[in-house]
Amino acid sequence: MLLTRKRRRALIAGVATVATAALGIALSTQLASAQTTLRGAADAIGKDVGVAVNYNLLQNDATYRNTVATEFNSLTAENSMKMEVLQPSQGNFNFSQGDAIVDFAKQNNQSVHGHTLVWHSQAPGWIQGLSGTALENAMADHINTVMDHYRGDVESWDVVNEVVSDNNGQLRDSFWLNGLGEGYITTAFELARAADPTVDLYMNDYSIDGINAKSDKTYEIAQGLAAQNLIDGVGFQAHLILGQVPSNMEANLQRFTALGLKVRVTELDIRIQMPADANELQQQANDYRRVAEICAGIADCSGVTIWGLRDGDSWVPDVFQGEGAPLLFNDDYSKKPAYDAFLEGLGGDGSDPGPTDPDPTDPDPTDPDPTDPDPTDPDPTDPDPTDPGPGNGCTATLSVQSPWNTGATYEGTVTAGQNLTGWTVTWTWPGSERISNAWSISGTLDGATVTASDAGYNGTLSSGQSTTFGFNITKPDGATASVPTVTCTAR
Ligand code: G3I
Repeated sequence: MLLTRKRRRALIAGVATVATAALGIALSTQLASAQTTLRGAADAIGKDVGVAVNYNLLQNDATYRNTVATEFNSLTAENSMKMEVLQPSQGNFNFSQGDAIVDFAKQNNQSVHGHTLVWHSQAPGWIQGLSGTALENAMADHINTVMDHYRGDVESWDVVNEVVSDNNGQLRDSFWLNGLGEGYITTAFELARAADPTVDLYMNDYSIDGINAKSDKTYEIAQGLAAQNLIDGVGFQAHLILGQVPSNMEANLQRFTALGLKVRVTELDIRIQMPADANELQQQANDYRRVAEICAGIADCSGVTIWGLRDGDSWVPDVFQGEGAPLLFNDDYSKKPAYDAFLEGLGGDGSDPGPTDPDPTDPDPTDPDPTDPDPTDPDPTDPDPTDPGPGNGCTATLSVQSPWNTGATYEGTVTAGQNLTGWTVTWTWPGSERISNAWSISGTLDGATVTASDAGYNGTLSSGQSTTFGFNITKPDGATASVPTVTCTAR
C-alpha cells in the first residue's frame, strides 16, 4: 500500500510515542527538546506546518528553495493552482507551474494542500460569462480534470473558497451563485468527492477565525455538508491584524471539530502598520505563538500554513497601504522574533531568549509611544473617539491616472476613520461617463450613479488605514475626465 507523507508522519509519531513510553521520561525530554526547525516540531506532534509558495521564487532562488525545504512539511501554491492559471481558456489546461511545485514537494517529502477549485476571484473571463448547465459542466470538467491530474500528489483540496459574504451572513454574491443558485456549493463537493474519494475536502474562508456572523454561516454550510459526508475540513485563512488573534478562536475551531471535521489554519499572516518597531514585532511573535498553540492543542487541527515566506514576498503591502511585515522571515532570510515564538508554540525549541527587553534604550517597552500622555486613548487629539467623524466612518477620493480621448483609468482611495469590516462608496457622474471595467470593488458600476463595495479581501481596515481600487471609464471623445465627489460608508 502506498502511504502518503502525512500517513507516514502519523506512523512515525505513533512509533515515537510507543518508544517513549517504553524507555521513560529521559527519551521523552530528548525528543521534545530536539526540534529546532518548524517542520521538526510539527512532525513531532503529527501536524502540517505549511507555506504558500511563489512559483517564480521556487524556480529562481536557491535560498528560498532551501528554506522552504528545511522549514516546512507542507506546501500550498500561492497562485499556481488557481483556475486562471490551470485553465486560462476553456478546455486548455496548463499544469506546468503546479507540477513544478508538486515535484519539489515530492523531492522534499512534503505534502501539498490544493488551493483552490471553485473561487469567484482569479477565475478566467471565459467561465464568468457562463450560467446554468454550461457553468455546471465547466465546474465538473475543471474539478474532474484537476483532481485527476493531481491524484496521489495533493492530499487535500480547498473545494470552495470564500463563498460567504462579509457583512450579512449570507452567501457571497458571485458568478457561481448567480449562475447556479445556492446549490453550487453542494454540487462542487459532490463532484470533488466522486473525483477522488481519498483526499480531504475543505471549505476555506477569511474573517471566520473568531465567532461571528460569517463563521456562523460557514458553520451552517459545513454542518449540512458533513451530514452528507461531503466535507472533511474547514480552512481558516487567518489574515490577521497585529494584536487581534480572536479571543474565541480556539472555541470557534472546536465547534467545527465537534461536527467531526478537521480544521486547518490555511493562510496565516499578521500585518503591522509600517514601520514596525521592536514592540510590535514582539506582539506579532506573541500572536504567532498563540495561533500555533491553538492548533497544537486541537487534535483535529491538521496544521498551520503561513501565507508566504519572507515579508517582501507577501501580498499584504499591495492591498493594505502602509501595512506589511506580516510573515516569519526577513527579506534576507533571517528569522524574526515571530519565527522563534511560532516554533515554540508548535512545541519546538526556539532560540528566543525569552521575555528580554526588545529595546534597552526604551524606558518603557510596554508603552508604544512614551510621548503619548494617555496610552488608553487611541487619538488624544480627537475629543470624541466614539464619533467616527465625517464620511460615515470612512472617506474616499478618486483621481485620474491616465486619460485618453474616449476614456480614462481612475484610482480610488478609501481611508478608514474607524476600524471597519467593509465599505461602500457612491458617486454620480456629471455627464455620460460610464465605467467599463473595474477591479477591487463590486456593485452597481455601470450607471450614472455608482454604488460599489469592497471586494472582500480589501474590506477590513483599521482606523487610519487606506486601500485602493480602480476602474476604466468611457467618456465623450475629447471631454475632460471629471472627478466626482465620493461618499464613503463603513460597515
Ligand atoms: O501574473 C500577473 C503578472 O503577469 C503581472 O505582470 C502582474 C502585475 O501586477 O500581476 C500578476 O498577477 C498577480 C498575481 O497575484 C500573481 O502574482 C496579481 O496582480 C495579484 O493581484 C495576485 O495576487 C494574489 C491574490 O491572491 C489575488 O487574489 C496574491 O499573490 C495571493 O497571495 C492572494 O492569495 C489569496 C488567496 O488565494 C485566497 N485568500 C486571500 C489571499 C490574499 O489575498
